[in-house]
Amino acid sequence: MPTSLAEAPRPAPRLVIEGLSAGYGRDPIISGIDLAVGGGEVVSVIGANGAGKSTLLKAITGALPSMSGRVSLGDRDVTNLSGNRLARLGIGYVPQSRDVFDTLTVAENLEMGGYLLSTRERSRRAEEVLGIFPKLKEMLGRRAMKLSGGERKMVALARVLMLSPQVLVLDEPTAGLSPELSRSVLRDQVRALADGGVAILLVEQKAFEALEISDWAHVLVAGRTAIEGPGTVLATRSDIREVFLGAEVRA
Ligand SMILES: Nc1ncnc2c1ncn2[C@@H]1O[C@H](COP(=O)(O)OP(=O)(O)O)[C@@H](O)[C@H]1O
Ligand SMILES: [Mg+2]
Repeated sequence: MPTSLAEAPRPAPRLVIEGLSAGYGRDPIISGIDLAVGGGEVVSVIGANGAGKSTLLKAITGALPSMSGRVSLGDRDVTNLSGNRLARLGIGYVPQSRDVFDTLTVAENLEMGGYLLSTRERSRRAEEVLGIFPKLKEMLGRRAMKLSGGERKMVALARVLMLSPQVLVLDEPTAGLSPELSRSVLRDQVRALADGGVAILLVEQKAFEALEISDWAHVLVAGRTAIEGPGTVLATRSDIREVFLGAEVRA
């Protein structure tokens, strides 16, 4: 059993993971993962490179079949449904890589994100999403491959928001960004979306930046939750910094 640091009041869970195991061959890479994310919460999963963070998100979002365990959206069992089905049910997933269509423009990426909507709904929603990311308005005609890392991540997030997901699953939204830009993405976009009611499951290698905006966090070590607790509590424990986060620790 993982160690839990504190019992804080948490909202009713919207995305629930129970005993999830998955891998690429015979042996599981992640085992027995339990976690829950409620509306308005950011729950993060942090851990060293190779700990299994992306594997966990792939198993949740239908990109990789799970070996055992259960994924629920509210009362509904959504284990091993395809990404498409999950998108229809309100789970948006931004993978670590291949998160935008490179050869398409920003506007086309948003259109693709709204593929389930009617033409009219799609333009209405695109307006709303551009209200969240006003900077994208100036680059609608640019191809994604011409954008900076930060701009690309913004497009990736905007694309997934086109379907107004109730649950957002984000794999390293700050990868390749400077510490300053990372903080701003996490605070001004990720945290702000949760404050608007979305349930966010966030995977980050930038552990401390993630903990700062997290209601709850899991430290993944070799595919298992080693410890979990409120983000602010984990961030201030020096033993956790040293033992679990290793190279991720910043002075
Ligand atoms: N497509 C794959 N096929 C086989 N092994 C993989 C694949 N992707 C990841 N792995 C292995 O699974 C382990 C966990 O990887 P990953 O979930 O990507 O870790 P993280 O996201 O925490 O850096 C690593 O040992 C990695 O080599
Ligand atoms: Mg990863």
